[in-house]
Amino acid sequence: MIDFELTEEQQQVQALARSFTRDHVIPVAAQHDKDESYPEEVIAKAHELGLLNVIVPQSVGGLGLGMLDEVVIGEELGFGCMGTYTILMASELGVTPVLMAGTPEQHERFLAPLLAGPRLAAFALSEPDNGSDAGAMKTRARFEGDEVVLDGVKTWISNGGIAEFNVVFASFDPELRHKGTIAVVVEKDAPGLTCNKLHGKLGQRASPTYEMVFDGVRVPAANVLGEKGDGFKIAMRTLDKTRIPVAAGAVGVARRALKESRDYALQRQAFGKPIAEFQAIQFKLANMKIGVETARWQTYRAAYLVDAGRPHAEAAAIAKAYASDMAFDAAQEAINLFGGYGYMSEYPVEKLMRDVKLNQIYEGTNEIQRLVIARHVLQ
Ligand code: CAA
Repeated sequence: MIDFELTEEQQQVQALARSFTRDHVIPVAAQHDKDESYPEEVIAKAHELGLLNVIVPQSVGGLGLGMLDEVVIGEELGFGCMGTYTILMASELGVTPVLMAGTPEQHERFLAPLLAGPRLAAFALSEPDNGSDAGAMKTRARFEGDEVVLDGVKTWISNGGIAEFNVVFASFDPELRHKGTIAVVVEKDAPGLTCNKLHGKLGQRASPTYEMVFDGVRVPAANVLGEKGDGFKIAMRTLDKTRIPVAAGAVGVARRALKESRDYALQRQAFGKPIAEFQAIQFKLANMKIGVETARWQTYRAAYLVDAGRPHAEAAAIAKAYASDMAFDAAQEAINLFGGYGYMSEYPVEKLMRDVKLNQIYEGTNEIQRLVIARHVLQ
């Protein structure tokens, strides 16, 4: 049987995320976007309400929520401010490889401390010379006694410089390519690590993004997740899960584009009547609605597969690519519907388009999602 209802607990989580978004995210979203500032008070509130790092397991004192819970929260946050949601989402992205490949001792050491405050994790894979070709990483890991020494540069790392820890992917033997990689936890303030905040992003400007320079950074070999050689696969298995919240955030953005468009269409007059009475406008609203509903169900389905412990890589890639392309189109149509006002930052729709552009790019571009999908189709 297929059940299309959220459980009572999931409906409660949804209501909490919705009221948090309405009361704390939306009122300050435009200002943080304008100032490119970190919404510290919003993240503190998210922590207080139990909406931050929700997948940290109960074994170390966390809520241990599932992927469906996470995407229900993600849609609400995406509705309010995709940049703010990326801060929470990227933290779950940093938590995921520790949860998936870490030992119980590593869970206790790295995940339990996250719960003590509005603290974040991060995931450091991309480099200046490689994004899509993640296996070509140049950051070097040298094993010396019971330590690992890291040298190299990571970039486009959401939360990187303010996170309690980064899961860093590095190569100990480039000739082995994927099989010569590790995933290792690097804690905040490690000597030799410099983090530079990147400025001038088109959208998602509340979310802090960093370049991270590793200059002989030493960490205990006990911080390596899984086996030596597992790094690339840990990154891929992580992204197979975390692309689903990217889709959820995009569904939220599209739902917001629809709501703003509907409200505007009902009050804006042209040719002596509200523009909502014109079919050309009605079709735009209907297309947005079709997009929101179909993307949400694909996102829920991918999340359900994760929670059921079933293969989900292809479903996640479909959800991510479809939802983010759909949401970009919806935001663009919202601007068309608002006309000249849509182009101005006083109105909320231009920010939706700038923000959701990134959902098409991060956690694997939509071209890479199509590559993943095509490989499944052909295998
Ligand atoms: N799960 C498990 N193993 C996997 C896997 C997966 N999903 N995908 C590949 N592998 C394994 C393969 O089986 C293979 O293993 P063997 O060597 O044992 O046979 C090995 O990994 C190499 O696989 P491929 O040859 O398929 O790898 P590839 O070099 O062709 O790369 C790719 C595949 C899909 C293009 C991959 O590089 C990719 O996903 N690139 C995109 C990277 C990405 O998403 N970056 C996002 C950065 S994070 C971010 O944006 C976060 C942020 O700040 C918000």
